[in-house]
Amino acid sequence: MKHLLTVSDLSKDAINSIFENAKNHNLKNDSKKIVASFFAEPSTRTRLSFESAAHKLGWSVISASDAEASSSLKKGESLKDTFRTISQYADLIVFRHNDENWINVARNYSRVPVINAGNGAEEHPTQALLDLFTLQTEIGDLTGKNILFTGDLKYGRTVHSLIKLIQNFGCIIHLCPTTIKSAFEEISYSLPFGNFKALTVSEAKNILPTIDAIYLTRTQYERSKNTELLSNPFAVSKSYFKLDKKLLDTMKKDSAILHPLPRLEELDEDVDDDPRAAYHERQIRNGLYVRMALMDYIFA
Ligand code: NCD
Repeated sequence: MKHLLTVSDLSKDAINSIFENAKNHNLKNDSKKIVASFFAEPSTRTRLSFESAAHKLGWSVISASDAEASSSLKKGESLKDTFRTISQYADLIVFRHNDENWINVARNYSRVPVINAGNGAEEHPTQALLDLFTLQTEIGDLTGKNILFTGDLKYGRTVHSLIKLIQNFGCIIHLCPTTIKSAFEEISYSLPFGNFKALTVSEAKNILPTIDAIYLTRTQYERSKNTELLSNPFAVSKSYFKLDKKLLDTMKKDSAILHPLPRLEELDEDVDDDPRAAYHERQIRNGLYVRMALMDYIFA
């Protein structure tokens, strides 16, 4: 048995033989692609769907989940050095981190393609891609269709990417952002989208019967700068759009309900079994296949 427990276990012949193979890259299965899945923020769907997609494609996966605690970031390593390192081990990196600027570091320091699985509150491009795919498969061509976005439009990165992406698809976009009031201040909900009018909750309810697809999102409590909100999210007063069975009954029969998940109080469980609810099965499953197709496309 060839243990390596101390350098004393290595004979000169063994060292020469190992180095010869390393120089020639003369190693078995070296052609198999490897995806590094590096997540420094929580994730269920994005990480597991990418890893599942890689396995389905016959690729291998190396992963750092809870990377803020388990990787050398915890020891103070820079993002630059992190990308320099991972890109020597993998053919593709799937990366999530709360620093919005990491995408520029990746552009400059990764030696292999990188997929953004979330950069802070800014963007989540693959979620947008699977959401667009889901919208098209649920309601067809988006031209002239009315799409309503509700929830945390300020910090919700899925909405930022999806709105950017569908702007060229001819649909009409309506926004109903959650507004939050604490005892001390009103969080200002300026939206990063330019020319959209924000609807109040009652205005959004009024137009609901004309909507072709609704995209709900949760409040991103963890991104708020409001300490009162962070310590007790449910104690502050909020004005937010909540979809329940009663409101659902006012929606078109051929409309679609999407949510990137996780959901909180904005989407009642009574809606889950309605055929228009795409979020638990079709939207999630689409995520797997769209990510497989994207990974394949990157190496085509
Ligand atoms: C979203 C995210 O991480 O931005 N989740 C996801 O990837 N499906 C949405 C969220 O956390 O609210």
